[in-house]
Amino acid sequence: MTAERGRFIVMEGLDGSGKTTQLVRLAKHLRERGRKVYLTAEPTVSTTGGMLRDALGGVTRKTPCELAAMFVLDRIFHNVNPVNGINKMLGSGYDVICDRYYYSSLAYQGSETDFEWVRAMNINCPEIRRPDLCIFLDLDPEICMKRIGSDRTTTEIYEKKETLERVRARYMDIFAQLDDNVIVIDTAPDIDSVAAEVCRAADEICRD
Ligand code: TMP
Repeated sequence: MTAERGRFIVMEGLDGSGKTTQLVRLAKHLRERGRKVYLTAEPTVSTTGGMLRDALGGVTRKTPCELAAMFVLDRIFHNVNPVNGINKMLGSGYDVICDRYYYSSLAYQGSETDFEWVRAMNINCPEIRRPDLCIFLDLDPEICMKRIGSDRTTTEIYEKKETLERVRARYMDIFAQLDDNVIVIDTAPDIDSVAAEVCRAADEICRD
């Protein structure tokens, strides 16, 4: 007997929007419902993922095109890796919850280089799966910057208010353009009410 395919849920948001907290809460909720959950993130732990983290932290310098291409390579590996790739885990009956996916490439790299090129590389790639649901945690870039300032020890290359404002606008354009299942959740309310809304959205697609 083969396991029923799990659901593929992506969590997106600006740096400092509280994704990590909400990812963990969602995983706990689905596990309590008796579902198998696999948490993953981009950039991944692949060699390309390591190079991406160095570039994001400002250790090495990469052009926006180099970054966009590297994210695509990392994302293909993330899908097809036979050990614990997204396809493999979904096929084994796990719900896969992924911290960032192609929406981030379209929003971040798409703001800095040719948007149509970034979009085509990701959306037309036969080895990059479309998620069942994307949850966007929406937070004012100014509040994101305050949170980043108090939480982090290293500054990533995109962590500037003007950049985050541009990226947020780009996210909204993408959601309007793409035919994906996306829900935008305002994260200004308290953590518990946001978590309840995130779980409700996931429950809609994770029916037993
Ligand atoms: P995070 O670990 O806090 O989510 O940060 C990852 C950073 O990587 C964040 O600044 C956004 C950036 N990023 C891109 O620019 N493009 C991408 O495709 C992905 C997955 C992440």
